[in-house]
Amino acid sequence: MLVNATQMLQAAERGHYGIAAFNTNDLEWTRSILLAAEELQSPVIIQCTAGAAKWMQGFKVCADIVRDLTESMNITVPVAMHLDHGSYEDCFKAIDAGFTSIMYDGSHEPTFDLNLERTAEIVKLCHSKGLSVEAEVGGIGGVEDGVASKGELADPAQCKAIADTGVDFLACGIGNIHGLYPDNWEGLSFDQLEKIKAEVGDLPLVLHGGTGIPTDQIQKAISMGVAKINVNTDLQVALARAIRKFVEEGKDLEGKNYDPRKFLKPGFDAIVERAKELVVTFGSDGKGWA
Ligand code: 13P
Repeated sequence: MLVNATQMLQAAERGHYGIAAFNTNDLEWTRSILLAAEELQSPVIIQCTAGAAKWMQGFKVCADIVRDLTESMNITVPVAMHLDHGSYEDCFKAIDAGFTSIMYDGSHEPTFDLNLERTAEIVKLCHSKGLSVEAEVGGIGGVEDGVASKGELADPAQCKAIADTGVDFLACGIGNIHGLYPDNWEGLSFDQLEKIKAEVGDLPLVLHGGTGIPTDQIQKAISMGVAKINVNTDLQVALARAIRKFVEEGKDLEGKNYDPRKFLKPGFDAIVERAKELVVTFGSDGKGWA
């Protein structure tokens, strides 16, 4: 059964560990994430952007894949099906499709007031249906789904205003960016994180751009109130690297390894292993509940 993400993130914020939110792209990808979470008895958030949903023929197919797999695989740990970086319009589509958790990313709206107004509206709607809501203050830099933006430090007063709408968890820019970090990246701004946390109290915070942040910085952020860490590129790189190795070793030419189930298997095995490593780094292993 899918759950919303509120309870698992509140427990993580209190217990100073982080829950991984892995983006998915298809059925086998979802299966790999679920295998890793179940094996380590960790709660997990599976999330999908509008771009990935389009690739999977829509939000409904995406949500159905996650729901059906949790049942057919007898998954016992809590699993949330989350919309990642939803536009205002995407939120309604994902709610209708059966997502249990919604991110309304109003950081790209022309004014902060519009972000605030729409966040409040989405919170009201989602809470009336038992869904959790993530909002965002301060754009997360990098390129995602072809959209480039520069990393920002979120304004603590704006974080407080969004927190007061009743959101369940909040993404705030603290120098993090999507995709691979450039060599001259300055690292996370813990000063900013401290100021934001002072304003929002025990509201769980979300760290986007989890790929490539040094482990000590991730763990420090978790100790300061980050409870959800979004990871996408990392698993994509793990899959690509494993398949490249398979081909470079000429294994695709052996037997019937041209069968996509065999050709892609090393990639999905690599996702399971990498997801497990990250769950251990974030400290959510053994924190699942039936
Ligand atoms: P990465 O691709 O950098 O891991 O970022 C993922 C993310 O933040 C999704 O919202």
